Amino acid sequence: MDNRGKFTSNFGFIMAAVGSAVGLGNLWAFPYKLGANGGFAFLLIYIIMIFLVGFIVIIAELAIGRKTKLNPVGAFRALNKKFAFAGWFGIVAAFLILSFYSVLGGWSIKYFFTYIMDIFGKGFGDLSGEAFFNNFISDPVQPLIFTAMFIGIIFFISIAGVEKGIEKSAKIMMPMLFFILVIVIIRSVTLPNAMEGIKFIFKPDFSFLSNGKFGEVIAAALSQMFFSLSLGMGAMITYGSYLKKDANIEKNAILIPLFDTLIAVMAAIAIMPAVFSFNLDPAAGPGLLFVVLREVFASIPFGDIFGAAFFLLVIFAAVTSGVSLLEVVSSYFIDEKKFSRKKSASIVCSTCFALGIPVSLGFGLLKDVKLPQLNGVFVNILDFYDYVGEYVLMTLGAFILCIVVAYVIKPKTIVMEVEANGNVFKSKKYWCFMMKFITPLLVLLTFLTATGILNFQLIL
Ligand code: TRP
Repeated sequence: MDNRGKFTSNFGFIMAAVGSAVGLGNLWAFPYKLGANGGFAFLLIYIIMIFLVGFIVIIAELAIGRKTKLNPVGAFRALNKKFAFAGWFGIVAAFLILSFYSVLGGWSIKYFFTYIMDIFGKGFGDLSGEAFFNNFISDPVQPLIFTAMFIGIIFFISIAGVEKGIEKSAKIMMPMLFFILVIVIIRSVTLPNAMEGIKFIFKPDFSFLSNGKFGEVIAAALSQMFFSLSLGMGAMITYGSYLKKDANIEKNAILIPLFDTLIAVMAAIAIMPAVFSFNLDPAAGPGLLFVVLREVFASIPFGDIFGAAFFLLVIFAAVTSGVSLLEVVSSYFIDEKKFSRKKSASIVCSTCFALGIPVSLGFGLLKDVKLPQLNGVFVNILDFYDYVGEYVLMTLGAFILCIVVAYVIKPKTIVMEVEANGNVFKSKKYWCFMMKFITPLLVLLTFLTATGILNFQLIL
């Protein structure tokens, strides 16, 4: 027996993989993008993109993971020596994303405790949501203490191993997340004027078909889907490497996006009606959770309790994603350097904390530091990490993965793995066709538009 660990059940694997996918992206990016890009029409395009890209890439990643039983670098190397560098893209992306994710996870822990203390009148004090938030994030030390706490949590889950740590914690946290989300939805949709929010997120607006914004909406759906499904950076390769031979990869590749999208839509239903009920700005990003929702929770009965429950949900979402980001890098050290799980996790966690320091200070001491994107726009340190990790490396990684699968190892290698143990690959023909001709092009398009190299609006 190897010492890499394995998921004990398919349910445990699904919970861990959905835990990886469901994260901050579902909570603060999706609800806004849904409303801002055409509501129901956006949802439709998002789902089509899952069939054209998400489903195709997930199958490839899971199969590569299970076939090679290796971390992303080792897996690419095992497929073809020349492409080990694609695995490295994933490792670097995971480092960058985990570094800013931990800072944001830390903020969520702070808010959870603050809402709890607010029940006893000792939380937010008289400060407005915005003042409290700005005071907190610009502090040079406090956010870093919470960042360390977040990293501590994922460290302990990781060193408990694949079954006892990753799988078990996901089996507890994901159902709880779902349950809390349902409660928050019930509260939100029963607020006065909630219908306005529902209209904002679902109102089918197909005007982008005729006003030249079609390309933009597709690009928004594609980049959101990449981040949300944790595609192209070896997260699914890593979890796939712990998958049993008899697991049905095709079914799992449907269930993971299904749950991820369901929870993203539920998050939209939980958040937007409340935002509209109080006439607040439905903006995207951290401000939505930390500032806008503060106004909501401050105004409703038992708001502190709902606030604490909501941030517990945010913490669960961030922790299960953080654990999987950590696992991408840890598995590299475990497989390739033969380090123990503890040593690997220690190295990754301390490096991410160090990388997180400038991210956190970027809201205070270093707030004037701006770094360039490929399209010449300058952004703060967090957005820069996000840009390089999410927009450049994840999409490029997925593109190389598609090319390797379609033209180097050939689709049949993946088909054989999916069909191992007598499983039937029902959509085999569709999958092979997409992998060869359509998906790589769409992934390339995502890379070009998400990085800003190509401005879509100019073309259509
Ligand atoms: N999917 C996560 C979210 O929606 C973010 C993420 C991107 C991620 N890449 C990842 C999580 C890799 C785990 C592993 O927030």
